[in-house]
Amino acid sequence: MVTVNKNYLKLPGSYLFSNIAKKVAAYQEAHPQDKIIRLGIGDVTQPLAPAIIESLHKAVDEMAHGETFHGYAPDLGYEFLRNTIAENDYKSRGCDIAPDEIFVSDGAKSDSGNIQEIFGLDNKVAVCDPVYPVYVDTNVMAGRTGEYNPSRENFDGMIYMPCREENGFLPEFPKEDPDLIYLCFPNNPTGSAIRKEQLQEWVDYANKIGAVIIYDAAYEAYITEDDVPHSIYECSGAKTCAIEIRSFSKNAGFTGVRLGFTVVPKDLVRDGVSLHSLWARRHGTKFNGAPYIVQRAGEAVYSPEGKAQLKEQVAYYMRNAKTIYEGLKKAGYSVSGGVNAPYIWLKTPDKMTSWEFFDYLLEKAKVVGTPGSGFGAHGEGFFRLTAFGTYENTVEAIERIARL
Ligand code: MLT
Repeated sequence: MVTVNKNYLKLPGSYLFSNIAKKVAAYQEAHPQDKIIRLGIGDVTQPLAPAIIESLHKAVDEMAHGETFHGYAPDLGYEFLRNTIAENDYKSRGCDIAPDEIFVSDGAKSDSGNIQEIFGLDNKVAVCDPVYPVYVDTNVMAGRTGEYNPSRENFDGMIYMPCREENGFLPEFPKEDPDLIYLCFPNNPTGSAIRKEQLQEWVDYANKIGAVIIYDAAYEAYITEDDVPHSIYECSGAKTCAIEIRSFSKNAGFTGVRLGFTVVPKDLVRDGVSLHSLWARRHGTKFNGAPYIVQRAGEAVYSPEGKAQLKEQVAYYMRNAKTIYEGLKKAGYSVSGGVNAPYIWLKTPDKMTSWEFFDYLLEKAKVVGTPGSGFGAHGEGFFRLTAFGTYENTVEAIERIARL
């Protein structure tokens, strides 16, 4: 008899953003005349930069001729891209990361979901609360947690590190030592950032207890302050305790193109085994590489033209962040984030729950956001708005909210 992976049955409801999309679609169907503004999922709205489009066209043309055609990509990614990443994202920041420690992939979501596969099922996992749901859900699917506990609104067997307003939404060190620690900075969903000396404390802690940090730096392009690290490898000792995941979605608008990478340093050894070789084995077996044309597009992100164009694109979204932050503050909301991240985190008014505020905003302002409780129990009473909309929609959404 066929049986199923019962761990999936522990997951309540559907994936957060699928759930929201269904709710919004149902509302739109019932109110076809309403102009809904979507500031929920962090999906970009600006077209790909000209340097990227040019590179894509050129690569597509290469695929039309036998001499320049490309089939399967190399397991770890094309050298032209890995060399460029090592130079621009790491060497230029004083981080000693070699091209062959970089694994090119089809995006940070898949990598952050798949990385847990190289670890034993008996590892204790620590996550921030609130947290990007992929880290939790994929560990639940793998069987690394107990059941969902409806009264605590989280999973037995998972270590939750509360991120509270009074701590600037930074996680508290766990009371029980974990084996795997997921950190995401600049943070999704709270938009908070971690200073270099604060991140150094996490690196020192992980090295001391022998844990591995899985560091999601998908939003690093939005950092505006000098003492906020772009990579965990800016901290000393990180190469013996940290894996870093990066995305091209938010810094270069690749949400529909798909490209990302993961850094697994060769110095990272646990249980007598190199995690680099395990991830290489997994990558080689389960992945056939991001498409050549997409990797060429990724290379263009680092060209002088690409860099200049993307600086403007990031500034465009950060103007939205400022518009949301200042507009909501003026309207009397308590807000944070939006300075080193494209997310604004606000307190729901009048003690509304996050989902009550979601419904209220959708019905009264026709604006979609993301309920904080969807990211974890400590997100209850908060709400996330994204700066990835168009400027015009962002201005209109904030005007509508301010009028409520
Ligand atoms: C989000 O809205 O949290 C992100 O867009 C999700 C993602 O990047 O997968």
